[in-house]
Amino acid sequence: MAVGITALGTYAPQRVLTNQDLEKMLETTDEWIVSRTGIRERHIAAENEFASTMGVRAVQDLVRRHPDALAGVDFIVCATSSPDALFPSTAALIGGEVGLAGVAAYDLSCACSGFVYACATAHGFIAAGIARRVLVIGAETLSKIVDWQDRGSCILFGDGAGAAIVEAVPEGYGFQSFALGADSAGGPSLYMRAVADRIPGVEKDLMAPKVGMNGREVFKFAVRVLGDSGQQALTKAGLAPADVDWLIPHQANVRIIDAARERFGIPEEKVVVNLERYGNTSTASIPLALQEAVDAGRVKDGDQLLFVAFGGGLSWAAGCLKWYGGAGAMVTGAAAEVSA
Ligand code: COA
Repeated sequence: MAVGITALGTYAPQRVLTNQDLEKMLETTDEWIVSRTGIRERHIAAENEFASTMGVRAVQDLVRRHPDALAGVDFIVCATSSPDALFPSTAALIGGEVGLAGVAAYDLSCACSGFVYACATAHGFIAAGIARRVLVIGAETLSKIVDWQDRGSCILFGDGAGAAIVEAVPEGYGFQSFALGADSAGGPSLYMRAVADRIPGVEKDLMAPKVGMNGREVFKFAVRVLGDSGQQALTKAGLAPADVDWLIPHQANVRIIDAARERFGIPEEKVVVNLERYGNTSTASIPLALQEAVDAGRVKDGDQLLFVAFGGGLSWAAGCLKWYGGAGAMVTGAAAEVSA
Protein backbone atom coordinates (compact mmCIF):
# COMPACT_ATOMS: atom_id res chain seq x y z
CA MET A 1 0.00 0.00 0.00
CA ALA A 2 1.36 3.42 -0.95
CA VAL A 3 1.30 5.94 1.90
CA GLY A 4 2.26 9.59 1.60
CA ILE A 5 1.62 13.16 2.68
CA THR A 6 -1.58 14.65 1.27
CA ALA A 7 -1.88 17.93 3.18
CA LEU A 8 0.36 20.36 5.03
CA GLY A 9 0.01 23.37 7.29
CA THR A 10 2.50 25.46 9.25
CA TYR A 11 2.80 28.22 11.81
CA ALA A 12 5.56 30.50 13.03
CA PRO A 13 5.08 32.95 15.93
CA GLN A 14 4.80 36.63 15.14
CA ARG A 15 7.82 37.86 17.10
CA VAL A 16 11.09 37.83 15.16
CA LEU A 17 14.46 37.88 16.95
CA THR A 18 17.24 39.01 14.64
CA ASN A 19 20.97 38.51 15.00
CA GLN A 20 21.15 42.26 15.68
CA ASP A 21 18.79 41.75 18.61
CA LEU A 22 21.08 38.97 19.88
CA GLU A 23 24.08 41.33 19.64
CA LYS A 24 22.38 43.41 22.35
CA MET A 25 21.81 40.38 24.59
CA LEU A 26 25.05 38.39 24.20
CA GLU A 27 28.68 38.72 23.27
CA THR A 28 28.13 37.80 19.64
CA THR A 29 27.88 39.36 16.20
CA ASP A 30 25.65 39.01 13.18
CA GLU A 31 28.76 38.24 11.16
CA TRP A 32 29.77 35.35 13.47
CA ILE A 33 26.30 33.80 13.46
CA VAL A 34 25.77 34.11 9.69
CA SER A 35 29.22 32.83 8.77
CA ARG A 36 29.03 29.82 11.17
CA THR A 37 25.37 28.90 10.66
CA GLY A 38 23.62 30.85 7.89
CA ILE A 39 20.93 31.97 10.37
CA ARG A 40 19.82 35.63 10.30
CA GLU A 41 16.64 35.59 12.37
CA ARG A 42 14.25 33.26 14.15
CA HIS A 43 10.64 33.36 15.39
CA ILE A 44 10.05 33.34 19.13
CA ALA A 45 6.87 32.20 20.86
CA ALA A 46 4.92 34.68 22.97
CA GLU A 47 4.72 34.03 26.70
CA ASN A 48 1.36 32.32 26.30
CA GLU A 49 2.33 30.27 23.23
CA PHE A 50 3.38 26.66 23.70
CA ALA A 51 3.91 23.58 21.54
CA SER A 52 0.21 22.74 21.70
CA THR A 53 -1.04 26.24 20.84
CA MET A 54 1.38 26.48 17.94
CA GLY A 55 0.48 22.97 16.80
CA VAL A 56 -3.18 24.01 16.79
CA ARG A 57 -2.29 26.99 14.58
CA ALA A 58 -0.47 24.70 12.14
CA VAL A 59 -3.46 22.35 12.00
CA GLN A 60 -5.76 25.34 11.42
CA ASP A 61 -3.53 26.38 8.51
CA LEU A 62 -3.76 22.85 7.14
CA VAL A 63 -7.57 22.97 7.38
CA ARG A 64 -7.64 26.37 5.68
CA ARG A 65 -5.76 24.85 2.75
CA HIS A 66 -7.60 21.50 2.79
CA PRO A 67 -11.02 21.99 4.40
CA ASP A 68 -11.86 18.26 4.68
CA ALA A 69 -8.45 17.16 5.89
CA LEU A 70 -9.41 16.26 9.46
CA ALA A 71 -12.41 14.09 8.53
CA GLY A 72 -11.58 10.52 9.45
CA VAL A 73 -8.32 11.27 11.25
CA ASP A 74 -7.87 8.27 13.55
CA PHE A 75 -4.42 8.86 15.01
CA ILE A 76 -2.43 11.93 16.07
CA VAL A 77 1.33 11.82 16.54
CA CYS A 78 3.09 14.95 17.77
CA ALA A 79 6.88 15.02 17.58
CA THR A 80 8.20 17.51 20.10
CA SER A 81 11.09 18.11 22.48
CA SER A 82 9.34 21.00 24.17
CA PRO A 83 5.94 19.53 25.12
CA ASP A 84 3.53 21.58 27.23
CA ALA A 85 3.59 18.75 29.79
CA LEU A 86 4.76 15.15 29.99
CA PHE A 87 1.08 14.33 30.13
CA PRO A 88 -1.45 15.11 28.85
CA SER A 89 0.46 14.69 25.61
CA THR A 90 0.77 17.67 23.32
CA ALA A 91 -0.88 15.50 20.64
CA ALA A 92 -3.94 15.00 22.85
CA LEU A 93 -4.06 18.71 23.72
CA ILE A 94 -3.98 19.62 20.03
CA GLY A 95 -6.60 16.98 19.20
CA GLY A 96 -8.92 18.40 21.84
CA GLU A 97 -8.64 21.89 20.36
CA VAL A 98 -9.18 20.94 16.71
CA GLY A 99 -12.27 18.76 17.11
CA LEU A 100 -10.46 15.42 17.40
CA ALA A 101 -11.14 14.65 21.07
CA GLY A 102 -11.24 10.89 21.56
CA VAL A 103 -8.81 10.15 18.73
CA ALA A 104 -5.70 8.13 19.69
CA ALA A 105 -2.87 10.57 20.36
CA TYR A 106 0.66 10.49 21.70
CA ASP A 107 3.93 12.40 21.63
CA LEU A 108 7.10 11.17 20.01
CA SER A 109 10.37 12.23 21.59
CA CYS A 110 13.24 12.03 19.19
CA ALA A 111 14.55 15.62 19.15
CA CYS A 112 15.08 17.10 15.69
CA SER A 113 14.69 13.76 13.89
CA GLY A 114 11.13 13.63 15.18
CA PHE A 115 9.15 14.69 12.11
CA VAL A 116 10.65 11.99 9.90
CA TYR A 117 10.28 9.42 12.70
CA ALA A 118 6.63 10.45 13.05
CA CYS A 119 6.05 10.01 9.31
CA ALA A 120 7.59 6.52 9.53
CA THR A 121 5.37 5.73 12.52
CA ALA A 122 2.27 6.92 10.68
CA HIS A 123 3.27 4.89 7.63
CA GLY A 124 3.63 1.81 9.82
CA PHE A 125 0.25 2.34 11.52
CA ILE A 126 -1.47 2.64 8.16
CA ALA A 127 0.34 -0.32 6.58
CA ALA A 128 -0.56 -2.44 9.64
CA GLY A 129 -4.23 -1.45 9.48
CA ILE A 130 -4.08 0.35 12.84
CA ALA A 131 -4.97 3.72 11.32
CA ARG A 132 -6.14 5.12 8.01
CA ARG A 133 -5.50 8.85 8.26
CA VAL A 134 -2.83 10.13 10.65
CA LEU A 135 -2.29 13.73 11.70
CA VAL A 136 1.47 14.17 12.12
CA ILE A 137 2.64 17.31 13.91
CA GLY A 138 6.02 18.80 14.73
CA ALA A 139 5.73 21.67 17.24
CA GLU A 140 8.43 23.37 19.27
CA THR A 141 8.92 26.22 21.68
CA LEU A 142 12.68 25.76 21.90
CA SER A 143 13.03 29.37 23.05
CA LYS A 144 11.58 28.23 26.39
CA ILE A 145 14.16 25.45 26.90
CA VAL A 146 17.41 26.88 25.55
CA ASP A 147 19.96 28.50 27.84
CA TRP A 148 19.92 32.17 26.81
CA GLN A 149 23.26 32.66 28.59
CA ASP A 150 24.96 30.10 26.31
CA ARG A 151 25.92 31.95 23.14
CA GLY A 152 27.21 28.71 21.59
CA SER A 153 23.73 27.19 21.44
CA CYS A 154 20.92 29.73 21.93
CA ILE A 155 21.70 31.56 18.69
CA LEU A 156 20.75 28.45 16.71
CA PHE A 157 17.17 27.82 17.71
CA GLY A 158 13.71 29.15 16.91
CA ASP A 159 10.05 28.24 17.42
CA GLY A 160 7.50 26.91 14.95
CA ALA A 161 5.07 24.16 14.07
CA GLY A 162 4.09 22.04 11.09
CA ALA A 163 1.24 19.60 10.51
CA ALA A 164 0.74 16.95 7.84
CA ILE A 165 -1.87 14.39 6.91
CA VAL A 166 -0.33 10.98 6.20
CA GLU A 167 -2.61 8.48 4.46
CA ALA A 168 -2.95 6.17 1.45
CA VAL A 169 -2.02 7.69 -1.90
CA PRO A 170 -2.19 6.27 -5.42
CA GLU A 171 0.43 3.63 -6.26
CA GLY A 172 3.70 5.13 -7.44
CA TYR A 173 3.51 7.98 -4.92
CA GLY A 174 4.33 8.16 -1.23
CA PHE A 175 7.11 7.07 1.09
CA GLN A 176 9.48 4.57 -0.48
CA SER A 177 11.92 4.04 2.40
CA PHE A 178 13.10 5.20 5.80
CA ALA A 179 16.52 4.94 7.46
CA LEU A 180 16.25 5.63 11.20
CA GLY A 181 18.68 5.30 14.07
CA ALA A 182 19.76 6.45 17.52
CA ASP A 183 22.86 6.00 19.65
CA SER A 184 23.00 7.18 23.24
CA ALA A 185 26.81 7.11 23.15
CA GLY A 186 26.45 10.56 21.57
CA GLY A 187 23.86 11.66 24.14
CA PRO A 188 26.27 13.91 26.08
CA SER A 189 26.73 16.05 22.92
CA LEU A 190 23.12 17.23 22.98
CA TYR A 191 20.85 16.74 25.97
CA MET A 192 18.21 18.10 28.29
CA ARG A 193 17.31 16.63 31.63
CA ALA A 194 13.80 15.66 32.66
CA VAL A 195 12.94 13.50 35.66
CA ALA A 196 16.24 11.81 36.48
CA ASP A 197 19.18 13.77 37.82
CA ARG A 198 21.51 11.76 35.63
CA ILE A 199 22.33 11.46 31.96
CA PRO A 200 25.18 8.99 31.32
CA GLY A 201 28.28 10.91 30.27
CA VAL A 202 27.08 14.32 31.50
CA GLU A 203 28.55 15.84 34.66
CA LYS A 204 25.93 16.62 37.29
CA ASP A 205 26.76 20.32 37.50
CA LEU A 206 26.15 20.65 33.73
CA MET A 207 22.63 19.31 34.10
CA ALA A 208 20.64 22.53 34.34
CA PRO A 209 17.07 22.05 33.07
CA LYS A 210 18.04 23.61 29.73
CA VAL A 211 19.48 22.35 26.46
CA GLY A 212 23.17 21.43 26.78
CA MET A 213 25.24 21.05 23.64
CA ASN A 214 28.75 20.41 22.39
CA GLY A 215 28.48 22.17 19.03
CA ARG A 216 31.64 20.77 17.50
CA GLU A 217 30.72 17.16 18.29
CA VAL A 218 27.19 17.60 16.98
CA PHE A 219 28.55 19.20 13.82
CA LYS A 220 30.86 16.26 13.05
CA PHE A 221 28.12 13.75 13.85
CA ALA A 222 25.58 15.60 11.69
CA VAL A 223 27.78 15.75 8.61
CA ARG A 224 28.51 12.03 8.85
CA VAL A 225 25.03 10.85 9.67
CA LEU A 226 23.14 12.97 7.13
CA GLY A 227 25.24 11.48 4.37
CA ASP A 228 25.07 7.91 5.70
CA SER A 229 21.36 7.82 6.48
CA GLY A 230 20.42 9.66 3.29
CA GLN A 231 22.40 7.14 1.26
CA GLN A 232 20.79 4.24 3.15
CA ALA A 233 17.31 5.58 2.43
CA LEU A 234 18.16 6.03 -1.26
CA THR A 235 19.61 2.52 -1.51
CA LYS A 236 16.56 0.97 0.18
CA ALA A 237 14.34 2.76 -2.32
CA GLY A 238 16.49 1.68 -5.26
CA LEU A 239 17.40 5.27 -6.01
CA ALA A 240 20.61 7.22 -6.65
CA PRO A 241 21.40 10.82 -5.62
CA ALA A 242 20.89 11.84 -9.25
CA ASP A 243 17.21 10.80 -8.94
CA VAL A 244 16.56 13.35 -6.19
CA ASP A 245 14.60 16.41 -7.30
CA TRP A 246 14.62 18.03 -3.84
CA LEU A 247 16.81 17.44 -0.81
CA ILE A 248 14.82 18.67 2.19
CA PRO A 249 17.16 18.62 5.18
CA HIS A 250 16.59 19.44 8.83
CA GLN A 251 17.35 23.16 8.97
CA ALA A 252 20.13 23.28 11.55
CA ASN A 253 23.14 24.88 9.91
CA VAL A 254 23.81 25.76 6.28
CA ARG A 255 27.38 24.41 6.53
CA ILE A 256 26.07 21.01 7.64
CA ILE A 257 23.53 21.03 4.80
CA ASP A 258 26.24 22.01 2.28
CA ALA A 259 28.46 19.15 3.43
CA ALA A 260 25.61 16.63 2.99
CA ARG A 261 24.70 18.07 -0.38
CA GLU A 262 28.28 17.86 -1.58
CA ARG A 263 28.56 14.26 -0.43
CA PHE A 264 25.55 13.38 -2.60
CA GLY A 265 26.71 15.59 -5.46
CA ILE A 266 23.28 17.25 -5.43
CA PRO A 267 23.41 20.78 -6.89
CA GLU A 268 22.63 23.73 -4.61
CA GLU A 269 19.46 24.64 -6.51
CA LYS A 270 17.91 21.27 -5.59
CA VAL A 271 18.18 21.86 -1.84
CA VAL A 272 15.43 23.56 0.14
CA VAL A 273 16.94 25.93 2.71
CA ASN A 274 14.99 28.49 4.74
CA LEU A 275 16.95 28.43 8.00
CA GLU A 276 18.13 32.01 7.50
CA ARG A 277 14.60 33.12 8.55
CA TYR A 278 13.69 30.43 11.09
CA GLY A 279 16.84 29.04 12.66
CA ASN A 280 16.62 25.47 13.89
CA THR A 281 12.98 24.73 14.76
CA SER A 282 13.65 21.04 15.46
CA THR A 283 10.63 18.90 14.54
CA ALA A 284 8.99 21.83 12.72
CA SER A 285 11.90 22.50 10.39
CA ILE A 286 11.20 19.96 7.63
CA PRO A 287 7.48 20.80 7.33
CA LEU A 288 8.28 24.54 7.35
CA ALA A 289 10.79 24.04 4.53
CA LEU A 290 8.55 21.66 2.58
CA GLN A 291 5.52 23.94 2.84
CA GLU A 292 7.48 26.91 1.51
CA ALA A 293 8.80 24.85 -1.40
CA VAL A 294 5.31 23.56 -2.25
CA ASP A 295 3.77 27.05 -1.97
CA ALA A 296 6.48 28.48 -4.23
CA GLY A 297 5.64 25.85 -6.86
CA ARG A 298 9.11 24.35 -6.55
CA VAL A 299 8.05 20.92 -5.26
CA LYS A 300 5.56 19.53 -7.77
CA ASP A 301 3.46 16.41 -8.30
CA GLY A 302 5.70 13.38 -8.84
CA ASP A 303 8.90 15.02 -7.59
CA GLN A 304 11.37 12.78 -5.79
CA LEU A 305 12.11 14.11 -2.29
CA LEU A 306 14.78 13.07 0.19
CA PHE A 307 14.34 14.08 3.84
CA VAL A 308 17.43 13.96 6.08
CA ALA A 309 17.43 14.86 9.76
CA PHE A 310 19.52 14.49 12.92
CA GLY A 311 19.21 15.51 16.53
CA GLY A 312 19.50 14.71 20.20
CA GLY A 313 19.73 11.06 21.10
CA LEU A 314 21.84 11.27 19.14
CA SER A 315 19.34 10.32 16.49
CA TRP A 316 19.01 10.38 12.75
CA ALA A 317 16.25 9.88 10.22
CA ALA A 318 16.07 9.92 6.44
CA GLY A 319 13.17 9.15 4.15
CA CYS A 320 12.44 9.02 0.42
CA LEU A 321 9.07 10.39 -0.67
CA LYS A 322 7.49 10.62 -4.10
CA TRP A 323 5.44 13.79 -3.69
CA TYR A 324 1.74 13.43 -4.30
CA GLY A 325 -0.37 16.28 -5.58
CA GLY A 326 2.08 19.17 -5.91
CA ALA A 327 0.83 22.40 -4.41
CA GLY A 328 -2.03 20.78 -2.50
CA ALA A 329 -3.41 17.30 -2.96
CA MET A 330 -6.98 17.62 -1.74
CA VAL A 331 -7.70 14.72 0.55
CA THR A 332 -11.17 14.47 -0.98
CA GLY A 333 -9.56 13.56 -4.31
CA ALA A 334 -7.74 10.49 -5.48
CA ALA A 335 -6.23 9.75 -2.07
CA ALA A 336 -9.66 9.44 -0.51
CA GLU A 337 -10.72 6.97 -3.20
CA VAL A 338 -7.63 4.86 -2.57
CA SER A 339 -8.18 4.80 1.20
CA ALA A 340 -11.93 4.11 0.90
N1 COA B 1 29.28 34.43 19.01
C1 COA B 1 30.61 34.63 18.99
N2 COA B 1 31.51 33.70 19.34
C2 COA B 1 31.04 32.50 19.71
C3 COA B 1 29.66 32.22 19.75
C4 COA B 1 28.77 33.24 19.39
N3 COA B 1 27.42 33.08 19.38
N4 COA B 1 29.49 30.95 20.14
C5 COA B 1 30.71 30.41 20.35
N5 COA B 1 31.66 31.38 20.08
C6 COA B 1 33.10 31.24 20.16
C7 COA B 1 33.54 30.11 21.04
O1 COA B 1 33.59 30.53 22.39
C8 COA B 1 34.91 29.79 20.49
O2 COA B 1 35.84 30.72 21.00
P1 COA B 1 37.32 30.25 21.43
O3 COA B 1 37.90 29.72 20.14
O4 COA B 1 37.90 31.49 21.93
O5 COA B 1 37.09 29.18 22.45
C9 COA B 1 34.77 30.08 18.99
O6 COA B 1 33.59 30.91 18.86
C10 COA B 1 34.61 28.84 18.16
O7 COA B 1 33.67 28.03 18.79
P2 COA B 1 33.25 26.66 18.16
O8 COA B 1 32.22 26.01 19.04
O9 COA B 1 34.45 25.87 17.78
O10 COA B 1 32.56 27.16 16.81
P3 COA B 1 32.07 26.31 15.62
O11 COA B 1 32.73 26.74 14.38
O12 COA B 1 32.03 24.84 15.91
O13 COA B 1 30.55 26.80 15.51
C11 COA B 1 28.36 26.05 16.11
C12 COA B 1 29.68 26.61 16.61
C13 COA B 1 27.47 25.80 17.29
C14 COA B 1 27.71 27.07 15.19
C15 COA B 1 28.63 24.75 15.30
O14 COA B 1 29.50 23.90 16.03
C16 COA B 1 27.37 23.99 15.01
O15 COA B 1 26.49 24.45 14.30
N6 COA B 1 27.25 22.74 15.49
C17 COA B 1 26.04 21.94 15.29
C18 COA B 1 25.03 22.31 16.34
C19 COA B 1 23.63 21.90 15.97
O16 COA B 1 23.24 21.85 14.82
N7 COA B 1 22.82 21.61 17.00
C20 COA B 1 21.46 21.25 16.84
C21 COA B 1 21.34 19.84 16.42
S1 COA B 1 19.72 19.38 16.00
